[in-house]
Amino acid sequence: MTRSSRSAPPKASAMLESLRGLGYSTEAAIADTIDNSVAASASKVDVIFHWAQKSSYVAIIDNGHGMSSGALESAMRLGNLNPIQNRGSSDLGRFGLGMKTAAFSQGRRLTVASRASGSEFACFGWDLEVLAAAPDGGWHLLEGPDDNSLGAMSLLQSTGTGTLVLWELLDRLVPPGSHQQDFLDTIDRVERHLAMVFHRYLEGSRPRLRIMINGKLVQPWNPFNASVSAGHWSSPVEQLNAEHGSSVVRCHVLPHRDRLTKVEYDAAAGIAGWNAQQGFYVYRNERLLVAGSWLGLGNPKPWVKDEIHRLARIQLDISNAADAAWKIDIRKSIAKPPHGVRQKLTLLAEDTRRRARAVYAHRGQVFRRPSEEPVFEAWESVVNSGVTRYRINRQHPAVRSVLDSPLSLEADVDTMLKLLESTIPVQRIWLDTVEDRGVSERGQVEGDQEEARQLLQVLYQSLLRQRYSPERARERLLRTEPFQRFPHLVEALPDQVSSQTEESSENS
Ligand SMILES: Nc1ncnc2c1ncn2[C@@H]1O[C@H](COP(=O)(O)OP(=O)(O)OP(=O)(O)O)[C@@H](O)[C@H]1O
Ligand SMILES: [Mg+2]
Repeated sequence: MTRSSRSAPPKASAMLESLRGLGYSTEAAIADTIDNSVAASASKVDVIFHWAQKSSYVAIIDNGHGMSSGALESAMRLGNLNPIQNRGSSDLGRFGLGMKTAAFSQGRRLTVASRASGSEFACFGWDLEVLAAAPDGGWHLLEGPDDNSLGAMSLLQSTGTGTLVLWELLDRLVPPGSHQQDFLDTIDRVERHLAMVFHRYLEGSRPRLRIMINGKLVQPWNPFNASVSAGHWSSPVEQLNAEHGSSVVRCHVLPHRDRLTKVEYDAAAGIAGWNAQQGFYVYRNERLLVAGSWLGLGNPKPWVKDEIHRLARIQLDISNAADAAWKIDIRKSIAKPPHGVRQKLTLLAEDTRRRARAVYAHRGQVFRRPSEEPVFEAWESVVNSGVTRYRINRQHPAVRSVLDSPLSLEADVDTMLKLLESTIPVQRIWLDTVEDRGVSERGQVEGDQEEARQLLQVLYQSLLRQRYSPERARERLLRTEPFQRFPHLVEALPDQVSSQTEESSENS
């Protein structure tokens, strides 16, 4: 028996008010709107932030293929496409909602104007004030722009194809009491977000996409710091095949702080900072969805972001055919690995985390050394009954030379070293490092260099006195901490020691 049915559409005003709470940030809302421009093959997107207190607006204009009047009318509907429908391989959309939900997360009026090839200019809008005032709760799609929006309409070029998305009545982006500076801060955040999310589109000598914010070109930010090769480790590319399609993974360990200049180091940190930006970077059709997350993986417990794994970043590429399996959300900011790939991803991440730990802990310094023999480190860590203690390495040449000195100081020096070892302010060093108080700043390394030069002279003399040949002494120093970081200083040590140096070292 066929059942009768009634029409029970949602009330437009209430529905849209509810959808405002999806939790978009301004930057995510703009990125979601630009996704549509990319899908429409735009090569240029202009984002205009216009400050005028309550009349401020945001316009996103692209030179993509645009929409005919019929297509635009359909695009303005919520859920114009079913998410289970297959999408083109370069389409960044999925839910048929983004253009609308992104706009209403920021403001109360959305106007979209577009021109497709061979079609007239088309323009439709939603206005939450109009819908709220409609007694029937209906979906009153407005034709043409509001009088107040006419000025912004001119941003859509009068020739060629393209689309203009205009957000007005920005009660969320410009809440009451906000100032122009808040607006400017938002623009900065948006710029950094777009630089990251679309970096693969923005890179290269002939980028596929140019994004301008108020006329300024957005420069790409690559999380894998591709321009800095020294000390950067990358794995081979791995393809993971699963039922829902294949994904591609490449693991990276970024260089230790000491290998980068301050500017490079700060630039590589990323928007949220080093710790927050560790983990997987999930790209869907080359657009970044997740910028650093361990994705709930971990063995046995899910990993949390921490200081020692901050250099680990893993690139993971998925395609939009796998959206359901990866549980992609409307805001395009969540992805969850399906069961079929979790184990492999965990293994790859474990390996990367181990490498990242090693680089972080050992300053990643593997400069030219005569052989792969181990470096004499000044400090050793000794684990005993689960407790880690730090000891000064008695075999380090500088220590050895004092212990073996003819002055028979061995017992006194040993007592002194034990005292120092038992009072290392481990907690304090840890806190200072975590809170980024400049521990191991590049500046300090420059300072280190002068200190290293002086220490080096003393130690070199001492080795020569122990009947090392100059060549063997230099070889040994090249694998002695901290001199292995300054090979040029070691190599510059003269064969013949001048009497002046000899004197000064003897006096010291
Ligand atoms: N800038 C644009 N140029 C051309 N067509 C567009 C543009 N913006 C939106 N559209 C059309 O409007 C439709 C609806 O966009 P909307 O962002 O609401 O949903 P979607 O992109 O299909 O899915 P999602 O909710 O995942 O973003 C798109 O599918 C596209 O056909
Ligand atoms: Mg979309």
